[in-house]
Amino acid sequence: MGREFLSLFDHWASSYDDTVNGHDEQYEEVFRRYPAILKEIVERSGENVLEFGSGTGNLTAALVAAGKQVFGVEPSNAMKTAALQKGLPNVFHDGDFLSFPAPPFDVDTIVSSYAFHHLTDEEKKQAIHIYSNILHSDGKIVFADTMFQNQAAHHAEINKAKAAGFDQLADDLETEYYPSIDVLKEIFEEEGFSMSFHQMNDFVWIVEAKKRERRNERMF
Ligand SMILES: C[S@@+](CC[C@H](N)C(=O)[O-])C[C@H]1O[C@@H](n2cnc3c(N)ncnc32)[C@H](O)[C@@H]1O
Repeated sequence: MGREFLSLFDHWASSYDDTVNGHDEQYEEVFRRYPAILKEIVERSGENVLEFGSGTGNLTAALVAAGKQVFGVEPSNAMKTAALQKGLPNVFHDGDFLSFPAPPFDVDTIVSSYAFHHLTDEEKKQAIHIYSNILHSDGKIVFADTMFQNQAAHHAEINKAKAAGFDQLADDLETEYYPSIDVLKEIFEEEGFSMSFHQMNDFVWIVEAKKRERRNERMF
């Protein structure tokens, strides 16, 4: 589910790391500070991490280097192969944000970078509901992704991309499901999370959502 953009990644796998390293002019701002973005996620993570959309394994590698136990979920075989060619331990499993095997450990943090926007807002809601049931009360979600303050900000970036002749970026911003921060806030709040947002470049924000203690429903 939510796998509609998969063929794109099967084709992009061999050159994906060139893009994140700033070699594609259209995506230069999207991936500006990429290493710092991954580092922020690692620093905000606990010890037992479930990662979605691990791609070529860049975040996975940083998590593993920091001594975390990682269970990676990635639907694209080509991306998984590219990750394994780097000599990373095979912590990758077939699956997606909504349907995935159970990790063999108690997950304290769920992470993802540059991937959650592949789900529609309705699917994002389903995903956060699933994660709310997986995490204990002190667990958290740390996602980095392109998102916008509101629809006007989203449209402004599409127009900017078109004016710069960045047609691929403009098309991407128009067709994938980049969320507005207000929508994400609503989804996380409904599922019992309190959250903070941190902007990393013109496109990418990190959202850290902590599961709130469930309030005692009984009145005394
Ligand atoms: C832009 S790449 C990001 C890769 C990596 N996380 C990074 O930061 O470089 C997006 C990744 O999400 C994966 N993806 C696409 N749809 C997905 C889904 N529904 N569930 C999980 N991963 C998905 C793609 O196959 C791809 O590997």
